[in-house]
Amino acid sequence: MSIQLSTQLFIIEEKYSMSNRVEQLEKLRAEALLGGGKDRLATQHKRGKLTARERLDVLLDEDSFQEIDMFTRHRSTNFGMEKQRPLGDGVITGTGTIDGRIVCVFSQDFTVFGGSLSEVYAAKICKIMDLAMKIGAPVIGLNDSGGARIQEGVASLGGYADIFLRNTLASGVIPQISVILGPCAGGAVYSPAITDYIFMVRGISYMFVTGPNVVKTVTHEEVTFDELGGADAHAGKSGVAHFAMDNEIECLKAVRKMMSFIPSNNRDTLPYKPTNDKPNRLCYKLDTIVPDNPNKPYDIKEVIREVVDEGDFFEVHADFAPSLVVGYATLDGKPIGIVANQPAVMAGVLDLASSVKGGRFVRFCDAFNIPLVVFEDVPGFLPGTDQEWRGIIRHGAKLLYAFCEATVPKVTVITRKAYGGAYDVMNSKHIRGDFNFAWPTAEIAVMGAKGAVEILHAKEVQKAPENERTALLAQMEAEYNEKFCNPYEAAERGFIDDVIMPHATRKRLIHALKILETKVDTNPKKKHGNIPL
Ligand code: HXC
Repeated sequence: MSIQLSTQLFIIEEKYSMSNRVEQLEKLRAEALLGGGKDRLATQHKRGKLTARERLDVLLDEDSFQEIDMFTRHRSTNFGMEKQRPLGDGVITGTGTIDGRIVCVFSQDFTVFGGSLSEVYAAKICKIMDLAMKIGAPVIGLNDSGGARIQEGVASLGGYADIFLRNTLASGVIPQISVILGPCAGGAVYSPAITDYIFMVRGISYMFVTGPNVVKTVTHEEVTFDELGGADAHAGKSGVAHFAMDNEIECLKAVRKMMSFIPSNNRDTLPYKPTNDKPNRLCYKLDTIVPDNPNKPYDIKEVIREVVDEGDFFEVHADFAPSLVVGYATLDGKPIGIVANQPAVMAGVLDLASSVKGGRFVRFCDAFNIPLVVFEDVPGFLPGTDQEWRGIIRHGAKLLYAFCEATVPKVTVITRKAYGGAYDVMNSKHIRGDFNFAWPTAEIAVMGAKGAVEILHAKEVQKAPENERTALLAQMEAEYNEKFCNPYEAAERGFIDDVIMPHATRKRLIHALKILETKVDTNPKKKHGNIPL
């Protein structure tokens, strides 16, 4: 062999030696970790935002993240894009664990083309979603993106549609959580909207179909990003977001907490949270919590905290439609979904927003086999032209439909009012409530005494001398209260299974749910129902 040839062979061998290959891999990995480069990462921090990778570190158990598709690059040649082909292409995907349980994640990287979505980027998200469906793991998406990558045109729009389809097919099979940590504009908002829960952070998260500039052109309204689509706008006004947090760390920790209540898929067992709170603990505070005056409010969240394990109630949608409270807790270590009228807000009335809020929550719990516990104190549906014309009939029907359809264990505790249609809707016995309890303070009737007496005895009262009318009304109301404003008419018919002392509520609920652990109930076979949307 000539010296020249052997030198050449040596160079080739050296090039393909293990050490050089490792070096190459390390170089590529280091390049990928830099996303859009040091300067852009610094800008992300200057804006008070974590980077896409830092977010994953906070969300997932330490050292649990396993990345896939780190070496993907876009293939676009439009507008000179072939000169900029960063590794990963703006989205980080992979698997990790939360409290030891596997989750699939994607984290959009704003430092790469503003986190905008390309064909390859969409394919990465689809791939991790497909894996999630195969293994039955939740998908958590961290969104921070300028939307469709303009340079990729329809390929990008198609990529979004591929994700929307997967979101829809995965709905009810695996939990899907969207965390908005930057802009989320245009049609891009519809992927989070199809998912089960949306978390936002004040000051950095925005969601809108059209931004403030377009709004100004079309409707001449002057509105800021925050007012239009910030965390508070969506958590309080539109109800699009379920959580508005003050910072990213708090937000990602809240996602971890939510995961502790929900299963990994619709066939999985529920997570178990060991507790020192005794199942037989009596809650004497509850014996005096309902005021003697039926028009006086009290805080249903106090009731909930008294009853559940260690007072730990994880409220969902806290700032939206607060006359209905929904959220998660555990009883004897086992997760439950709570739906409760809130007498401290508008007397706990059911309106359009609270019906939709409750309906969606009930459907999530039912899809993922989380037992439902209902605390009921409701004067009825909110009257008025505003509610009627905006469709309280249709929207109220959503809550009714959701409770009717649900086959999970369902237990109701009527603490005070259960009036009118709302009595039926709030998981009554008639719509497959498994155990329906009432406190002695329960009032189960078509309506309250004042309204009923006015309708039933209007003529009689009119005929009475004027100075006797007040006394007559009071007497009639007392008679009505005696007959209807108690739980015994309903209990006589078996619509209430038992009248229980408030202090026994925890004990009785735990017992009821224990019995219901083997419950089997089904709905007729169908393609799908037609919930009144
Ligand atoms: C390509 C984009 C981009 C996009 C931002 N960038 N959005 N590149 N496609 N959609 C790039 C910018 O050119 C810039 O690159 C970098 O990302 C950061 O953007 P800035 O504008 O400098 O950041 P900022 O001032 O924070 O503004 C962020 C923004 C703004 C509000 C998101 O960039 C913006 O309005 N972008 C367009 C948003 C949009 O209209 N998207 C399409 C929505 S419609 P350099 O190289 O300068 O750093 C849609 C359809 C989905 O998404 C349909 C699904 C059905």
